[in-house]
Formats: sequence, C-alpha cells, structure tokens
Amino acid sequence: MNTAHTLPSSQTPQGWRLLGFLSLGLLLLAAAVLALDPSVEGVRRLIRVTARTSLLLFLLAFTASAAARQWPGAWTRWQVRNRRYLGLGFAVSHTIHALAIATFAQLDPVAFHQASSVGNFISGGIAYGFIAVLAATSFDATAAWLGRPAWQRLHLAGMYYLWISFVITFGKRIPMSPVYVLPIVVLLLALAFRLWPRARRLQ
Ligand code: HEM
Repeated sequence: MNTAHTLPSSQTPQGWRLLGFLSLGLLLLAAAVLALDPSVEGVRRLIRVTARTSLLLFLLAFTASAAARQWPGAWTRWQVRNRRYLGLGFAVSHTIHALAIATFAQLDPVAFHQASSVGNFISGGIAYGFIAVLAATSFDATAAWLGRPAWQRLHLAGMYYLWISFVITFGKRIPMSPVYVLPIVVLLLALAFRLWPRARRLQ
C-alpha cells in the first residue's frame, strides 16, 4: 500500500512542538498516577509507568530508519524526521523515572534498598550518563561541534546500551510475571528489524 499521501496531516505535531506535547502528556500522566494513589505504592507505579512510556519512545526512535526504509510513506517519514524529538521525549520520560525513584528512596528507604542493588546503580547510572550525553548532543550546535562520525558512534553506542538495559530490567522481572516476556519479544523484534537489511546485504 502506498501511504505517501495519507496521514499524518499538517496538524500532526513535529519537532519542538512534538516534544512539548510529549512532555505535557508525560507530566499529566504522572500527575494522574499520583492523584489516584499518592502513597508510596503510587510512586512505585509511576516508576513502572515511566519505564513503559520510555520503552515506547525509545522503540520509535530505535526503529525509525529501518521503518522508513522498509515502509516508505508519510508516517515513517514523520517518524524518521522526528526521531531526535522522540529521543528527547524518552529523556523526559526517564527524568520522571529518576524523580520517582528518588521519591521512593526517600519515602521508604527499606523497600527501596530491597528493590534495587549496587549493580542496578552502576548499570543504571551509566545508562543515565548516556541519556544525558545523547540528549545534550541532540541539538544542531552540539551535534555540529561533535562532528558526524563521533556523533554517530556515540548515538549508536548509547542506543545499544539502552536496548541492553531494557532487556535486563524487564527480563529480571519475568519470574514475577510471565507478562514481562512481552517487552523482551518486542525488543528482540525491534533489534532484528534494525539489523535485518544489514544481514541481507551480507548474504
Ligand atoms: C540508577 C538508575 C535506576 C534505578 C535506581 C532504578 C530503579 C528502579 C526501581 C526501584 C524499579 C521498580 C519499581 C517498583 O516496581 O517498585 C524500576 C523499574 C524499572 N526500571 Fe528503573 N531504575 C534505574 C534506571 C533504569 C534504566 C536506565 C532503565 C532502562 C533503560 C530502567 C528500566 C526499568 C524497567 C523496565 C522497570 C520495570 C518496569 C515494569 O515493571 O514494567 N530503569 N527501576
């Protein structure tokens, strides 16, 4: 099907406006989660909810080029043109994740230490380092300062580190509920989708 002339329309948010909408949506979602349950359980739910909104935004950025190559059309063109803003939306979502984690640690330090480990802090800390650097180099001026080859290497390394972080954090929860197999399958499919054209070229 040729989707080149179908949606998205000129009304579909783009660029900084898209990031504004995403940030507002994420803040409203966080406010709703906490309004429904202002206890520590609500804060823990917010940590889980933002992990999932982060996954969604991450996957949209992670698969943008592959999707545009595989299904050229208006939607995938929108996705690829806006991947920088989808990535920044992911950074906003993960900032709320971090704020909720800090709130959890303050409200219930004992439960927080049971739910996290030193390994968590090291791998999560590196992930947050990548998120900060990727976000900081997602502006025209900083990207130009870094230069195209270094920018590409940095963003590739960051994307794959975050992909691994998601696989580990969701994977660890499979013993709690088999539903956690679902994000793992989605992450593996996204990786295969990204690497597939490269694998075909090597044949
Ligand atoms: C130092 C950094 C981090 C800490 C201390 C941390 C802490 C936590 C905690 C305590 C939970 C469990 C919340 C609960 O159920 O009560 C959680 C859930 C989660 N976190 Fe983080 N996190 C960190 C960074 C990250 C990063 C970088 C990612 C992914 C890139 C991530 C992805 C997740 C996921 C996928 C879940 C499970 C969500 C669910 O149950 O659906 N976290 N995190």
